[in-house]
Amino acid sequence: ISRTRIVDLLKREDFGAMVNVKGWVRTRRGSKKVNFIALNDGSTINNVQLVVDLGEFDEELLKKITTGACISVNGVLTESMGKGQNAEIQVKEIEVLGVCDSSFPLQKKGHSLEFLREIAHLRPRTNTFGAVFRIRHNMAYAIHKYFHDRGFFYFHTPLITGSDAEGAGEMFQVTTLDLNNVPKDENGKINYKEDFFGKEANLTVSGQLEGELAATALGAIYTFGPTFRAENSNTPRHLAEFWMIEPEVAFNDNNDNMNLAEDFIKYCVQWALDNCMDDLKFLNEHFDKGLIERLQGVVKVEFKRATYTEGIKVLEEAVAKGHKFEFPVYWGADLASEHERFLVEEHYKRPVIMTDYPKEIKAFYMKQNEDGKTVRGMDVLFPKIGEIIGGSEREVDYDTLMQRVEENHIPLKDMWWYLDTRKYGSCPHSGFGLGFERLLLFVTGMSNIRDVIPFPRTPNNADF
Ligand code: 4AD
Ligand code: MG
Repeated sequence: ISRTRIVDLLKREDFGAMVNVKGWVRTRRGSKKVNFIALNDGSTINNVQLVVDLGEFDEELLKKITTGACISVNGVLTESMGKGQNAEIQVKEIEVLGVCDSSFPLQKKGHSLEFLREIAHLRPRTNTFGAVFRIRHNMAYAIHKYFHDRGFFYFHTPLITGSDAEGAGEMFQVTTLDLNNVPKDENGKINYKEDFFGKEANLTVSGQLEGELAATALGAIYTFGPTFRAENSNTPRHLAEFWMIEPEVAFNDNNDNMNLAEDFIKYCVQWALDNCMDDLKFLNEHFDKGLIERLQGVVKVEFKRATYTEGIKVLEEAVAKGHKFEFPVYWGADLASEHERFLVEEHYKRPVIMTDYPKEIKAFYMKQNEDGKTVRGMDVLFPKIGEIIGGSEREVDYDTLMQRVEENHIPLKDMWWYLDTRKYGSCPHSGFGLGFERLLLFVTGMSNIRDVIPFPRTPNNADF
């Protein structure tokens, strides 16, 4: 008999059939005569109950069936008497595929998330991380489906690059140097500047600039891959290695860009509600009692659109009324997540798309407004998270863009190819970046970004 995944098995009603399941023992309990084993194979959060008549099996074999052990069983699919379960298995044959000794750290339930982070190699075996990583997969699939169905092409941008797409200097350098034999300059200082086979190279912070090249050739594209930021920030919302989705569309203005962002994010959340309900219910019950209601709310509500200037006014009024923020509020200040969350959670009470930021606090490539002070950028701000998306209409005028490159002291040798697009058939275009893990924070209700990626890379954390 071939193996049935537990997710499929629990839907079956052909009671009396012989079935095979393979998986990991979650719990074992019962009397001296009959034992009940909860088996999980990762295909669903739900376990299948195995009913084992102890008299029918060898004692040595039974001893090996401990929490964490991997077993294969053949048995009869039986209607379950227990509530909530459709089917169970009356076990006829057991094979132990892998024993698990008592040093297995996941013996008991209810380990803290902090402890589980220290055993990231084993945490996918828990209910919580099984749920999170199944949702992560489903979201990745939904993202590809969304764009594919709408005629966007998945475009691969390089991870090793010479340019700094955000112009913020937050890059990890890539080196081919033999660190025992590093070149030094005349003062004896180590020369790290040109070290990728004799050139300077970094890990990418964003695929946007290459994405713009593609959009002005293929029309509409998206990237979806890892990006790296060497910011030394230890927060529940920042990773040194995170995944980003970056659509870029020729002929879209910033308004089209906002419409796309709102539609896209609602599609992803609806996808989770339609395809991940068992996992969401588990997370709702154990971590975030308001989760499912919040997800259902977001797909229905129209996002509030407000300019940065309006947002600052709201925050200044809050300060005047006595609200205390850690960081100062004034026109020109970069918004901190406390400000973003105040606007979303306390004031507008819905997701906010904030536009027209001062150019000084935004990247060099954003299209300038006629006022000479603001740029056509947009950030999508979400409850519990703050910024989930950052994007803009792009500056397409060669001279204006060149001026911004110079003002930001970006070396021309890194930008000439990007500037070329503005020389050869330039056109209006817009795009944005969604932080995949920020989306997952929202969809899973987890509160630390380290808990929505299998192997989080943060300062001091890159062991495995
Ligand atoms: O706002 P950011 O820096 O924008 C860009 O990278 C643009 N090139 C996007 C574009 O227009 N194509 O980053 C975009 C999003 C943020 O809104 C946030 O969700 C996420 O990426 N992000 C991070 N996520 C986790 N850890 C970090 N250190 C992040 N930095 C940004
Ligand atoms: Mg941003």
